Parts: sequence; C-alpha cells; structure tokens
Amino acid sequence: MIYAHIMAGGIGKRMGNTPLPKQFLKLGSKPIIVHTVEKFILNDQFELIIVSTPKIWVDYTKEIFEKFGVTDERIRIIEGGSERNDTLEKALEFIEETNGISETDSIVVHDAVRPFVSKKIIDDNIKALEKYKAVDTVVPAFDTIVRGNGKEVTEIPVRDEMYQGQTPQSFNIMTFIESYAKLSSEQKVILSDSAKIVLLSGEKVAMVEGDNSNMKVTTPYDLRIANAILSEGH
Ligand code: CTP
Repeated sequence: MIYAHIMAGGIGKRMGNTPLPKQFLKLGSKPIIVHTVEKFILNDQFELIIVSTPKIWVDYTKEIFEKFGVTDERIRIIEGGSERNDTLEKALEFIEETNGISETDSIVVHDAVRPFVSKKIIDDNIKALEKYKAVDTVVPAFDTIVRGNGKEVTEIPVRDEMYQGQTPQSFNIMTFIESYAKLSSEQKVILSDSAKIVLLSGEKVAMVEGDNSNMKVTTPYDLRIANAILSEGH
C-alpha cells in the first residue's frame, strides 16, 4: 500500500505573528493546507491520506476541511509531534495500529506548506519507489552553495553537483523505520531531513525532479510570492 502523509505539525515561527499556524493562512480563497491536500486527493494510488497537525489544531483542521469541501474518505487527521521527525514517527505508528505494516508498504511525505506540488512530482515519487527504497525531490541549486561556520567559508562545492531538497520525500516504510531506529536520540533531534536519515544507514536515495514553483511557504515574503503564483493561474 502507498500512504500519503501531509505534514502540518509545525507552528510556523518564521511566519511571525499570525493568528493561525502558517499552514492555515489563506492563499487566494483557501487555506494553504487545503490546496496541498487537494493535490494528493487527485491521486487514487493512495490508501490513506494522513494529515498531521498540532494537537490543538486537529478539530480546527476537521472544520476547515468540511468548510472547503475536502471530504475524501481516505483522509485521517491526527496529532503531530514536537519535532518534524516525531510527526512522521506518529504517522507511522498510526499506520501500524490501523493496518499493520508490510514489507512493500511505502509513504509519500509532503510539507503542508508546499501547496503547488504537481501531480507529476507525486507520480514520479511513486514511480521511483518501484526501484528505490527512498526518494528525494530536488531542484538544481541556482545560487552557489557555500559551506561555512558563520565566520569563514570552509568549502565551495561544485554547483553542478548541488541541489536543493524539496518534498515529497518517499520511503519504503520498513526501511525508514530501520534507519530511524539506528539513530541516537541527539541525532533524532538534529536530523530533520528524512532522506538523510535513510542515506546515513547506507541506503541509496533516488532523485526526482522538483519544480521551483513547489516552493515552501516559510516567511510572509513567501506567502506574497505564493499568492502571485496562484494569481498567475497555477
Ligand atoms: N512540521 C511538522 N511537525 C513539526 C514541525 C514541522 O509536521 N513538529 C511540518 C510543518 O507544519 C511544515 C513542514 O513540516 O508543513 C515544513 O517545516 P517548516 O517549514 O520548518 O515548518 P514550521 O516548523 O511550522 O516552521 P518554523 O520552523 O518557522 O516554525
């Protein structure tokens, strides 16, 4: 089975003082999270579409889904965790309790705040899972990526080999659980990138081409850009 996991367990600190966590802010006429979930509903390969939000926003999420007609039977709204990894871990526990986990089960994990993900990107993730146990969606880095310690530059990697990671990130569930179990509790806090967790365990991670419009809404500036993209008819 293939599961979709929409991660909305954060509170969006970098968005500044807003009345709602950023995933619930309006983009055009609908909350950001509604745009995102609608993209996943279009794909009938998903067994369940798990949406994780902070505990105190679970009921609110149910309300807005009803209000905006997001009524797909496969949707389950559950509580997220304090760190991004905890949110994913809780979703995997939910799957385990609901359906059990078999060796072929996989999960396509996406940030709720990337509302412009395309059907192609989701389909390409699912396709790549046929050959790989982990998949990362990436775009080529346009800027030169510089490694540094805040004071001095320590390395300037060749730009042609640099990409920026987006989501979805997709995994064979058992492979992810095994990779995660190998981490120390400190690593679990530091390693917020799920693909890196699998990479560290020695597994190959496939690259799927993302898109610059598959942007993450992090700051008020991003929300302005997202509204501009939407008004151009995305
Ligand atoms: N996320 C999550 N659970 C957490 C933290 C983050 O599901 N404990 C989700 C966010 O809701 C978001 C996605 O992961 O959809 C990407 O994270 P980010 O943009 O960093 O979101 P926030 O943590 O909400 O933002 P900030 O770091 O500004 O507080």
